Order: sequence, then C-alpha cells, then structure tokens
Amino acid sequence: MKTDFNKKAKGLLTPALVFHTDINAKSAKGVYVHAEGGRRYMDFTSGLAAANIGHCHPAVVKAATEQAGRLIHSGCIFRYESEVALAGRLKRITPAGIEMFFFSNSGAEAVEGAIKLARFYTGRQGIIAFTGGFHGRTFGALSLTSSSARYRKLYHPLLPSVFHAPYPYCYRCPMGKNRAACSIDCFEYLRNKILRHLITPEEVACVVIEPVLGEGGYFVPPVDYMKKLRDLCAKEGILFIADEVQTGFGRTGKWFACEHFGINPDIIVMAKGIASGLPLSAIGASRKIMSKWPPGAHGTTFGGNPVSCAAACATIDTIEKKNILKNAQEVGGYALKRLKAMQARCQAIGDVRGLGLMLGVEFIKSEKQILRYAQNDRAPDKALLDRVMKRCLKKGLIIVECGVDKNVARFMPPLITTKAQMDVALGIFEEALFG
Ligand SMILES: Cc1ncc(COP(=O)(O)O)c(C=O)c1O
Repeated sequence: MKTDFNKKAKGLLTPALVFHTDINAKSAKGVYVHAEGGRRYMDFTSGLAAANIGHCHPAVVKAATEQAGRLIHSGCIFRYESEVALAGRLKRITPAGIEMFFFSNSGAEAVEGAIKLARFYTGRQGIIAFTGGFHGRTFGALSLTSSSARYRKLYHPLLPSVFHAPYPYCYRCPMGKNRAACSIDCFEYLRNKILRHLITPEEVACVVIEPVLGEGGYFVPPVDYMKKLRDLCAKEGILFIADEVQTGFGRTGKWFACEHFGINPDIIVMAKGIASGLPLSAIGASRKIMSKWPPGAHGTTFGGNPVSCAAACATIDTIEKKNILKNAQEVGGYALKRLKAMQARCQAIGDVRGLGLMLGVEFIKSEKQILRYAQNDRAPDKALLDRVMKRCLKKGLIIVECGVDKNVARFMPPLITTKAQMDVALGIFEEALFG
C-alpha cells in the first residue's frame, strides 16, 4: 500500500520536487508525525523550519479555523483585522527600527520584494550576496542563492549586478586562514576587492545576508564580521537586508538571529515559522524606507491571507505565553553540549555548532581515511551522514542535511521540544552513529 502510494505520487508529481522521506503522513502533532500504518516519527526538521511551535498547535488550529469560517480571502479588495493585528505584533518583536510591513506568501517572494524595495528606495542597482547563501528559487532570489551551483544550473543568465562575497564560514575559511590568524579577511575581500574592482559602493542598493547560514551549512558567523558589515552599510548608504526566513521566530533562541550580533537591519525578511506552516512571508522596514514605496510599486493577490495572518498572530502569542524562546535556548544549549560530547568520541564529527535549536553537525572523513584523501584534513563525509540519517529514520527520527557537500546534519526540531524528547532523539542519533 505504501509502495502503491509512492508509485502514484511519483507518477503525478514532478521529479524536480525532492521529498526527503517516503513517509505518507496522515497527521502530525507537536514534535511527532504519524504515518500511514500507525508508525510515529519525531520530526526534527519542523517541516523545514516552519512548524516552530510544533505541528498543528491547538492555538493555531483554533485561530485558523475560526478565521476560515469568517473570511478566507481579500485579494487587497478590502482590509481585515488579522493582517493589521499581525503587523502590530511584528512591530513589537522585530529589531528596533522595523515599523511597516508587506506580506507575501513564501520566503523567495519576500526576498524578491525586499530587493525591489532596496532598489526602489536607493535608486541603485547593485546587490551583494554571500557564497553559500540560500534565498529561494525564483529568479531574483535564485540570483542571490549560491549554496549549490545545482540550484542555478541551466537557469543562467540570472539577475545582473549581483556580486557574491565570501560568507565567513570559518570552519572552512574561504580565505584559507585559520581563525586565530585571521583578521576577518573575508570582510576585507568584500571591501577591498568587490567594492573597489567590481562595483563602487555608491552603486550598491543592498547586501542580503542570512545572520546564521542555513541551507549552506548551519554556520554562525563571527560577531565582529557582522558588526563590520553593518557599519560598512551604514557608512555607504547600502541597505542591510537580513534574511531571517529560517532563523526567525525563535529558531536561534531569540525572536530574530540579528539580536545575537547586536545589529538592526534596514530590511528584514521573514517566512517559514511565521505562521506555523501556513503560507505567509513578510518584509519589514522602517517607516522612512517603506514610505518611499508608492502605491502600486509592489502588490499581491494572496499575500497576507487572512487565515495565515490569524495563524501567525496565534503563533506569536503562543511563543510569548509559553515562554518558548527560553525553551529553545535551554533545550538547544543542552543538545549542543551532548552533541559536543559525541564529537569528543568520534573523529568523523568535525564540528558541532549553532544557536538555540538551529544546530549543525559537520561530518568529515576520519583520520584513517584521510590518509587516502591526501592533504585535506577536513574531507566532507556525505556517505557517512547518509547512513546515519537512514538509520535514524528506521528508528523513528527524521533529520535532514545541508551544506554544499551535504555533509552537515541539521537539527531544527520544534521549539517546544522537551529535554526528554531531545534525549530520545539524541539517543537515536548516537546509536545510529556508534551502533
Ligand atoms: C534563508 C532562506 N531564505 C529564503 C528561503 C526561501 O523560502 P521559500 O522556500 O519559502 O521560498 C529559504 C528556504 O529554505 C531560506 O532558508
């Protein structure tokens, strides 16, 4: 039966769409997904970092069903309360200076809108993105995405005047340095190479950066890099756009990851966790910036859908009422310690890192194998991670990978995950690794 369903699905859905498992999900609640046949899995992906307060949270279900019974759609024909209520909440929880919002449907769509807003506001064309970044698959967003060349293959030419600076992925320093001997050379590369040889600062509309690298490898950049980048933008009149699509809504233990670096973006892009899985995204900016975007300069039919906005209000209220940020910090901190303890026992784990419940475990070839891999002492080990993920799945734990070499396990469970549930999941992971 399971095979029949998968066969049918494969016959009808485009092969371009990659499903991480063959699980036929019948329902999901909290951390768990229930498959056909009654098997239960722990979803440590949160449906790709969207179900931040768990699947089908009762408060979200209630808010969405009540709203659906009253008003499902507006299409910008009339105003409605849930959208304005959500904007009010976002103004309160986003970094200082973010005051007005544009709602759309997906992360990519919000990235498109943000770069349009930056170009419109500044009158400049240039865009700086970062190698390893992921910003979506539509043409504008894809022009910034460089977590893998596979996503860009056969879609060139992409948007012109997009320049990629090296992301400060210090574990694999793009400048070939080690952290101790580095004075943030990748920042100097941006300032002294890109902004002197390729485009002048006064032609650059914006930089677009993930404050913690997501799809590109779950890497937390150095605080001084982020501060220098922010200062450079302020000095040159370049808008700093934080893509918080994956890092937002408590994923890193704070509402937004920018807070970890003490920086306030000019524009913030949000999606994924905003509405607990209903389609919704948002661009936030200051009144000064948004007010320069005249009526009709951007628009949408479905963006800011009343049901999605009601779900988003319930999501934010639940995070606050249940002190979920604190849980993400505590359970995340606990998981990080346990994963580091595993690293101490396992040569194949090269690095363990992250903030809150956005944790990455980078797999490398062990010393014995390295001898066969010449000089590189950090040869990525995708094959081992594949085996570990398969074993985890067999034992009822879903985790997925990231990184250009697909050798980084990402832990992004719902932020309501308890310490006991974390222990179960890490027990499975440990067994899959050492067993
Ligand atoms: C940082 C970031 N930006 C943008 C996107 C694109 O979002 P969507 O898939 O909703 O278009 C993603 C998706 O993974 C993301 O992680």
